[in-house]
Amino acid sequence: MSLSRKLIPASALLLALATGCRPSLPPSTPLSELTPQQTAGYHLFASRCAGCHYANNENSLHGPGLQGLYKKKFLPSGAPANDERVTAVILRGRNMMPAFGNNLDDQQLDDLLAYLHSL
Ligand code: HEC
Repeated sequence: MSLSRKLIPASALLLALATGCRPSLPPSTPLSELTPQQTAGYHLFASRCAGCHYANNENSLHGPGLQGLYKKKFLPSGAPANDERVTAVILRGRNMMPAFGNNLDDQQLDDLLAYLHSL
């Protein structure tokens, strides 16, 4: 039964190698396995961020896709991928990204960061 389940990741890796792409990132945590805090962050992301960012791939929408955000060393801008930097971008905005500093309380920010760590 599970042969195809095993073959899919292997073939994805082979495809990535064959096409010269970076190997795929480790998969995001499935929604069903998110903690309550991450789930709260997921709902915030869906209402505030998903209009501009994909969470499940790295393709650009209006801003860069955020899959694997913290699994890579650097953010799309080249800044280090850490909470300090991501918090600053969310609160203050960056270029075409609007600032959310007046629209998120501390709890919501923490929930959002917890969710972003699951990607
Ligand atoms: C109106 C569209 C828009 C919305 C809404 C938006 N973003 Fe962005 N975001 C952008 C754009 C555009 C960039 C690229 C900014 C740049 O580096 O020029 C970006 C960049 C980012 C980055 C990468 C920063 C870096 O240093 O590379 C993160 C992380 C991010 N956004 C998170 C979020 C989160 C979380 C939310 C929801 C609270 C959000 N964004 C909402 C447009 C948006």
